[in-house]
Amino acid sequence: MDDAKLNILVVEDDEYISKVINKEFSVLNYETHILSTLAEARNYITDNAKLIDLFLLDLKLPDGDGFTLLNFIKEKNQEAPIIIMTGHLSNKIVNRAIRQGCYNFLEKPFSVQKDILPIVRRSLSSVLLKKENHYLSEQMLHTSKLTALGELSATVVHDIRGPLGIIQLTCEDLKDDFDEKNSLTKEELNDHIYQINKACGKIKKLVDHLRNYSRNDHSEKEEYIEINSLIENSLFMVKQKLRNLGINVINDLDNHPHKIVIKCFPNKFEQVLMNLMSNACDAMKDQAKKDLSIKVFINQGYLYISISDTGTGIPEDIKIKIFDSFFTTKPKGEGTGLGLSIVKNIVVEHGGELLLESELGVGSIFTIKLPTSKILRGENDSSDPSPSKAA
Ligand SMILES: Nc1ncnc2c1ncn2[C@@H]1O[C@H](COP(=O)(O)OP(=O)(O)O)[C@@H](O)[C@H]1O
Ligand SMILES: [Mg+2]
Repeated sequence: MDDAKLNILVVEDDEYISKVINKEFSVLNYETHILSTLAEARNYITDNAKLIDLFLLDLKLPDGDGFTLLNFIKEKNQEAPIIIMTGHLSNKIVNRAIRQGCYNFLEKPFSVQKDILPIVRRSLSSVLLKKENHYLSEQMLHTSKLTALGELSATVVHDIRGPLGIIQLTCEDLKDDFDEKNSLTKEELNDHIYQINKACGKIKKLVDHLRNYSRNDHSEKEEYIEINSLIENSLFMVKQKLRNLGINVINDLDNHPHKIVIKCFPNKFEQVLMNLMSNACDAMKDQAKKDLSIKVFINQGYLYISISDTGTGIPEDIKIKIFDSFFTTKPKGEGTGLGLSIVKNIVVEHGGELLLESELGVGSIFTIKLPTSKILRGENDSSDPSPSKAA
């Protein structure tokens, strides 16, 4: 199936109608797939449901009723419009089809040019808009990631020097030992190899961070992953900022007896945490007290991850604006205004909510609230109070 074209599935047993539709649509650069039975359509939809942008269905098929197919499609793809083609358009049929989520109707006999095309065009224009929107938000995510990549590279370059130095020194030691004694014991050799191996492992971890981070996330899959590792990776991404500003990190994860595993898109989720941490750092730039706290707890079945700072706080009148794309109070070159809008989108994509508490001069708490369905294995409910208002 072609990704760039809009994909239309036509289920119609009248060969003449199918042929004309196919001919007219191919000129318009639609990718049309035509099937003539309920069974064929079910099979095809099972594998391709999410790739189809529009369905055109005949209600009377040789092996069954189009309404059965309508239900089946709705289970597999909520988004794509469905247009019903029928020879007998009664009120009963219209009501039933609307109840089942049908988008529009065509009564036979119809002209493909005059009747079908306008309806198809109209319904596809909203599909096109949604696709463009999706594409733009992916692009925005990537742009904001690239902005952070510069900073991450600085951290990696800085951190790579340590293990590289160890490798260099160990090699020099090896050479000196050989020069002096002309031989080495097995223990001495093992010890040197161990040091080099350990340093290589650290470098590999750093390079992997950079590689994973700069990857585009179009095809990222949901995975079960420990919250600890998501938080550690995100902290790593803002390490340079934490270091430069002298920020104290209070991470209560180390005190958790059990690990909490959540179902998420790991790269996107790290992007959320990293953006919240980065904002928290910026807000504490000129403060005397610089504490970044990360808390994770489960309360009444919900999982809460909160990032709090002792920064400037957020003035009441801009609280609603901060989630808008391109809204920033930072100087040119420092802020893109994309962070929080991306954060909010990704949290919602995970079925969650973003909560905000902020007090001027005291600090801010951004909390991600995730539903139970995202937690694989967790702790018993903690008695922490439920935080703040929805953002
Ligand atoms: N923890 C925070 N403390 C104070 N203000 C914040 C905090 N997080 C976000 N903001 C405000 O929200 C604005 C938008 O944030 P964001 O969307 O991440 O864009 P950017 O960081 O590029 O400005 C920031 O410019 C800042 O005014
Ligand atoms: Mg930001």
